[in-house]
Amino acid sequence: MKVAIFSTQSYDRLYLDRYKEGSQLELTYFDAALDEHTAGLTQGFEAVCIFVNDRVDLETANIISANGVRAVVLRCAGFNNVDVAAAHERGVKVLRVPAYSPQAVAEHTVALILTLNRKTHKAYNRVREHNFSLERMMGFNLYGKTVGVIGTGQIGAAFCRIMLGFGCTVIAYDPLPSPALKVQGVTYVPLEELLRTSDIISLHCPLTPATHHLINKEGFDMMKNGVMLINTSRGAVIQTRDAVQALKSEKLGYLGIDVYEQEENLFFRDLSERIVPDDLIARLMAFPNVLITAHQGFFTKEALQQIAVTTIKNLNDVALGTTSQNEILPESKVYR
Ligand code: NAI
Repeated sequence: MKVAIFSTQSYDRLYLDRYKEGSQLELTYFDAALDEHTAGLTQGFEAVCIFVNDRVDLETANIISANGVRAVVLRCAGFNNVDVAAAHERGVKVLRVPAYSPQAVAEHTVALILTLNRKTHKAYNRVREHNFSLERMMGFNLYGKTVGVIGTGQIGAAFCRIMLGFGCTVIAYDPLPSPALKVQGVTYVPLEELLRTSDIISLHCPLTPATHHLINKEGFDMMKNGVMLINTSRGAVIQTRDAVQALKSEKLGYLGIDVYEQEENLFFRDLSERIVPDDLIARLMAFPNVLITAHQGFFTKEALQQIAVTTIKNLNDVALGTTSQNEILPESKVYR
């Protein structure tokens, strides 16, 4: 089966080529992201393989289905970037990698917290310039602090367990609470109580109509002064302009984000020699208490291996016409 791989990075090629050995798949790699402008490239392919910032909307679904594509295979768990119903109506299956090393994202979340708190990024630069002063480097103990976790699925649960290990009080909000986490010491509370009482808030819910801009001015107003907010889920869960205001008013003491609402125009690219036209991210980067990473939470050897193995299996299932548990059906209302 001929497959067009979009948004290819060197590591995608490395891992997919390694795990496709022995299959009948013919992979063609494109640097471009898939959207309505690049959908024409799918002529002659039976499947497309995409990542978080490719977009299969109605227009793209029309073009790729007319070109003979019969499957969209995601190299990620979230599928908020695919109009699943439109794809299905045109006979195009959608498959994903439902889980790949939730620990990878949970551990990166902790890296963001520790870096913002103990300022290791600043210490690294200071000491290299022989500046051994501790002025403005003071952090706080995580031990005994209240951590609020929004969304306790695979990643949120892994994160809860790490923070319990630090000696934090872990509270959580999720419409589907986990009995196992309750036993391990997590207390479920209403969202408003979580926002009011947490010292650190970490987002691990999917992006759905219900979570779009879940964290906005109203939410920031409820939070403790100087709160730390971490987002490794999807950018649009936070209303970024409200976050800027909360940083300016010093309500928000620290912001760590691995995802950004307009990231599809920026992330996974080297723009170091370009003028970045996005004023909002420039404003965010101007704050000394904001740490941004470019959607690297998933980026470990273990996760890439799992993504490649499952993606190749999904593509083989499409090629052979086998039913797959990884297929997303249009009626699944939870899109991530
Ligand atoms: P999951 O499906 O295992 O867990 C999501 C949890 O969120 C579920 O328990 C669900 O009940 C809960 N939830 C749904 N609606 C909610 C709401 N309105 N408020 C609070 N909780 C709600 O998903 P998983 O694997 O834990 O991933 C979570 C998210 O992390 C993904 O949707 C994706 O957006 C993001 N992600 C980010 C990565 C990165 O590299 N930064 C990599 C992988 C995922």
